[in-house]
Amino acid sequence: MSRIAYVNGRYLPLAAAQVRVEDRGFQFGDGVYEVVHLHRGRFTDEDKHLNRLGRSLGELRIPWPLSRAALGGIIREVVARNRLHANGLVYIQVTRGAARRDHVFPAATTRPTLVVTARTLAPYPRDVDAWATTIITGPDQRWDRCDIKTVNLLPNVLAKQAAREAGAFETAMVDGDGMITECASSNLWIVDERGQLRTRPLGHEILPGCTRAALAELLAGERVTLSETAFSLEELRRAREVFLTSATSFVRPVIRVDGTPVEDGKVGPITRRLFAAFARHVQGGLSNAA
Ligand code: PDD
Repeated sequence: MSRIAYVNGRYLPLAAAQVRVEDRGFQFGDGVYEVVHLHRGRFTDEDKHLNRLGRSLGELRIPWPLSRAALGGIIREVVARNRLHANGLVYIQVTRGAARRDHVFPAATTRPTLVVTARTLAPYPRDVDAWATTIITGPDQRWDRCDIKTVNLLPNVLAKQAAREAGAFETAMVDGDGMITECASSNLWIVDERGQLRTRPLGHEILPGCTRAALAELLAGERVTLSETAFSLEELRRAREVFLTSATSFVRPVIRVDGTPVEDGKVGPITRRLFAAFARHVQGGLSNAA
């Protein structure tokens, strides 16, 4: 069955779906996006993702292409037309629209472009040990509004490619002060050498991850406390446990950093517990009401 995409009011086979050459997403990277996980027909943290989409649009002064309720209907329709009943993801992109190429904003009458696609994902990971992965580290080469989820992802693309070429899954990015910001497409957490769970506080330097927020809400039930304090590359190297979070990585243990094992190279106890807590959340936990 061919995949179906939504583009500006029409549902089309993916190969036939098109945006204009002068779309500002294509010309300038002038757009924002969201990736929402779908588990057995149900979105994970839908509200958080749509809230963040609204925030990204607002920060860049791109109007909503249609109402939030209408967008909710479209993402469901795309899921239905692609017959996604198992694990999948929905991709939503909104750009400032198509107009004659000029850096300044186009006329206020220019309609934003809305694209929604969907695809299957591998089954939700059952085995946390098998889900463990490896990362490398590298410089953070991005701009200073990383809290906006824009389609301008060139530094992230280069960081992810560097990881791939090193045989790793992700790159943890290091800022000019030697502190970790986040990974190319995920947030990074450590259990430091004193046993404290830490992740970088929200700010312009990182994306406010929806998985990060959902996991933070689950911590009380796990009797784990979080310190939202930045950690350095050195602290990452000395950490007892490391894991990353994203809509498609969930809670993913990291067992090697730059080729060196984290502790004994096995998934640690806190990561194990949080992986299980997030799995329950995805499968319909109370804080993830449909
Ligand atoms: N990436 N940081 C960055 C730079 C990201 O691109 C992402 C998500 C995250 C995690 O955010 P969330 O938990 O809301 O997925 C953090 C998505 C999955 C992507 O670009 O494919």
